[in-house]
Amino acid sequence: MKLTIQRHQKGKSYEETFDVASLKVTTLLAALYEIKAKMDESLTFDAGCRSGVCGACALRVNGRETLACSYTPHDGDRIEPLNYHPVQRDLKVDKEKPQETLKRVLPTTIQNPKSKIQNPPLSSEDEAKFRVQTDCILCDSCYSACPVLAVNPDFLGPFALTRAWRYHTDPRYIEEVPNDSIQHLTSKIQNPVLLDTVQQNGIWDCTLCGECTAVCPQQIDPKSDIMQLRGESLKAGYSDPTLSTPSFGTPDFGGGFGFDPNAGF
Ligand code: SF4
Ligand code: SF4
Ligand code: FES
Repeated sequence: MKLTIQRHQKGKSYEETFDVASLKVTTLLAALYEIKAKMDESLTFDAGCRSGVCGACALRVNGRETLACSYTPHDGDRIEPLNYHPVQRDLKVDKEKPQETLKRVLPTTIQNPKSKIQNPPLSSEDEAKFRVQTDCILCDSCYSACPVLAVNPDFLGPFALTRAWRYHTDPRYIEEVPNDSIQHLTSKIQNPVLLDTVQQNGIWDCTLCGECTAVCPQQIDPKSDIMQLRGESLKAGYSDPTLSTPSFGTPDFGGGFGFDPNAGF
């Protein structure tokens, strides 16, 4: 069995194919450890728990995000680092920027220091509302799979928006702000700061393609969480900016579409 790995070493990027037929290979992560031990000790990758819990070993196989410790390799597989993450070396990436998106959606400590998370009691019904979202292991697979990040690096991204929905549904999360302190709100609503935070470069920028949901190893559904946040935002008085009515301009047809009738084709 041969595995091709995208290498990044000393400022150079190149592909290298390793024949691992003679090695003890169970998972892809085991194969990487074997290659490092017996073929090339410079091979660099990230790993921790080796059991699908820590999220450290996420990478791409044949263009699809997966956890190396959960994946059974096949002959001809092509292994690459996650998208949209600076590569430190080989398959090891810097996750700092993507994971800083969490700070942007946690108003408790950043935008709104007066907010707080109250202690239990929490009913089992309440806990069930965000049990799945709480299982996020911050592997960044969904972030890597999201096509919006290719065109908008400031997009909050799927796991941060899932985190926002997780807090929005948690009855212990209390925002202590005057309700009229946020523009556009039409009625008294829960968590106005949090909802306001996800409007720009957030829920409306998502194309609802579902790639994030497809790759999540924890069966979290960020697409659905984003749709729920959209519904809450509409109730609060926000609107979908992509549905704003276009101006058809004046009768010369040169108005709202920016169409110049004198321009050549
Ligand atoms: S559903 Fe939205 S957040 Fe998820 S991958 Fe697609 S564009 Fe990105
Ligand atoms: S939502 Fe899923 S894919 Fe995204 S970081 Fe969390 S565990 Fe990973
Ligand atoms: S090593 Fe922890 S999830 Fe793979």
